[in-house]
Amino acid sequence: MAPRKSRIHSSEDARALARRRLPPLIFDFIDGAAGRERGAARNTVAFDRVLLQPRVMVDAGARDLSVPLFGRRFGLPFGIAPMGMCNLAHPGADRHLAAAAARLDMPLCVSSAASTTLEEMARLAGPNAWFQLYFGGGVEGSLAMADRARRAGYETLVLTVDVPEVARRPRDARNGFSVPFRMTPRAFWGFATHPRWSLATLAAGVPRPRNFDTGAFDRGASRAGADWGFLGRLRDAWPGNLIVKGITAPEDARRARALGADAIYVSTHGGRQLDSAPAALDVLPAIRAALGPGTPVLFDSGVRNGEDVVKALALGADMAMLGRPALWALAAEGARGLDALLSGIAGDISIAMAQLGVGGAGQLGPDTLFAAREAPDDGGAVPDRAALKIAKT
Ligand SMILES: Cc1cc2nc3c(=O)[nH]c(=O)nc-3n(C[C@H](O)[C@H](O)[C@H](O)COP(=O)(O)O)c2cc1C
Repeated sequence: MAPRKSRIHSSEDARALARRRLPPLIFDFIDGAAGRERGAARNTVAFDRVLLQPRVMVDAGARDLSVPLFGRRFGLPFGIAPMGMCNLAHPGADRHLAAAAARLDMPLCVSSAASTTLEEMARLAGPNAWFQLYFGGGVEGSLAMADRARRAGYETLVLTVDVPEVARRPRDARNGFSVPFRMTPRAFWGFATHPRWSLATLAAGVPRPRNFDTGAFDRGASRAGADWGFLGRLRDAWPGNLIVKGITAPEDARRARALGADAIYVSTHGGRQLDSAPAALDVLPAIRAALGPGTPVLFDSGVRNGEDVVKALALGADMAMLGRPALWALAAEGARGLDALLSGIAGDISIAMAQLGVGGAGQLGPDTLFAAREAPDDGGAVPDRAALKIAKT
């Protein structure tokens, strides 16, 4: 029998299917954001305002999507952002993400709040797994978690710093979403009306943050201890690559680098933290300009397709990371859905490069952008192309 064809041809397809497949409480946990969710919307609208300049009659028949980072090459210019509790989207989500990362040679950030242990994820994804650290259990507890990741073989650590406090996400509040689960009548109704998800999830074991003893993970705990002093301590303790995630201010990017960060990860946490934060894409050029060439910049928040990846690279990122779309695809169709989404994005990057006359992902830069961007309708900054002429490496 021929394998079933995926119905996912875009992130939007994946989201629509996920919405049908998941109990509302789970869909909202993945899809939701802080406040009025304008920050989340701003992240995607920012991509629509950036246009690419087609260039013709350049033989870009052989295109190379690989990018250099941390002394090696990754097969693709995008990876997977850290996301806690992925197995809520689909029982095998973590496993499928790890397999995809290994097969496509892309980085996979394994969250502190992952639904599979960091050791297991390192085993499954090998050197493509990066560990994402949340401050927790004080300085000593946080350093101990980093050391555990080191012992498990991780070479790259991502310290997330944009969650000093977990933002209130109205959808979660309305639904009574909590980790671990509290069964409310509303939640029960959502599970009862989505028996396929509920039975599969029950059979696989209800997901929980597996890097902690049962009940030991406090999702609402303050993480404000992740301050500059802590970054210095972590730098002293962590021998591998250190990335600081959640940076949107150029001064913060410079300061993190001065304290020893090897790379800066521009992100607004997908609008899940500060509703009034600028679009991540809008701050990217200023951060690249502040860092100059040579310091790798990772990017997420609003990446939905291959052209979005191209735009992030053109505006100064070395690699773009995919958040919600990966979980939507997994929720929609499991491994098949994830593969369809990822191969669709990779294919679209390659095709976009052909239209742009660019043979290598590493060559995407300011020249790739259409100079006169559409006038922003929401007051967003329009970077001057001349000011963007900064080589990445
Ligand atoms: C369900 C979910 C869980 C997340 N958990 C984490 C996490 O544990 N650590 C972290 O640094 N970021 C976490 N994030 C934020 C993502 O890493 C990323 O910044 C965000 O999803 C990017 O925005 P986008 O999904 O709109 O593209 C999470 C995001 C989602 C959707």
